[in-house]
Amino acid sequence: MKRLHLVELEDLSWWPRLFRDAATDYLVTAIRQARLYDAMAPILASAMRRSGAHQITDLCSGGGGPWPTLLPALRAAGMDASVRLTDKYPNVEALSTLSTSTPGLSFEPSPVDAASVPPNLSGFRTLFTAFHHFRDDDAHDLLAAAVRDRRGIAIVEPSSRTWPALAVQALVPLGVLILTPKVRPFRWSRLFWTYVVPVLPLAILFDGVVSTLRMRTPAELLELAREAAPESYSWESGVVSSPGSPLPIPYLIGVPRVEQGQAGLMVSSA
Ligand SMILES: C[S@@+](CC[C@H](N)C(=O)[O-])C[C@H]1O[C@@H](n2cnc3c(N)ncnc32)[C@H](O)[C@@H]1O
Repeated sequence: MKRLHLVELEDLSWWPRLFRDAATDYLVTAIRQARLYDAMAPILASAMRRSGAHQITDLCSGGGGPWPTLLPALRAAGMDASVRLTDKYPNVEALSTLSTSTPGLSFEPSPVDAASVPPNLSGFRTLFTAFHHFRDDDAHDLLAAAVRDRRGIAIVEPSSRTWPALAVQALVPLGVLILTPKVRPFRWSRLFWTYVVPVLPLAILFDGVVSTLRMRTPAELLELAREAAPESYSWESGVVSSPGSPLPIPYLIGVPRVEQGQAGLMVSSA
């Protein structure tokens, strides 16, 4: 399927904060229920060990995405990491609640653009459910910035650009209706815009379909990485299976090479 980069509501600066935060709050709940990214823990722990980092700067964090379950999984994989959550439009209430309730998580209250990460935010960079927001030029610049700053980086997406993934999106409004009572923080407005006027189920469906059409394959991720840093980084891309999803989870990992030389380029699956 050809990659299409159509507009997501979430990308529009005028899209109301209420709907934007409600969508990222929903994602935290859905990802937590499915433990969608926990299978990435051993791969991420291994990459962090190779890069020598114990701290993570998570970019495009939304409401905190996978970290409530991924951080314990990372620790179980032997990596005692701490994570700084950041976003261009920080969902301050959700990030603050999460940071207070989860040891090892903290957040940046001011906006952080993933394409120009301030120097005080050190450590291994991660992006979950977010790389598809970037057009090829911006995606290239984001990877090149990590390389310039000599940071390890992990890009992980929730699904593939396939017909089965689009079919799964058709279930999203039902998922929103079922999961909304579990979404925190509790808001009457969330119930109103879900069950009375169903803006949220439809908006999350719309962005989910557009996101699916924007997903990159492991080979496409690797190609971008090769262009960003052909020499000085060791890159690996592939897919993992998650017990919480019928769809393969694509990832790209880049770690600075200790010795300059030929880049290690590898496509794998786990
Ligand atoms: C689909 S949400 C994913 C949130 C979270 N990582 C998760 O897995 O649930 C994408 C997030 O990317 C953020 N975002 C989009 N463009 C960005 C940019 N250029 N820099 C930083 N964050 C950005 C949005 O504000 C949104 O919170």
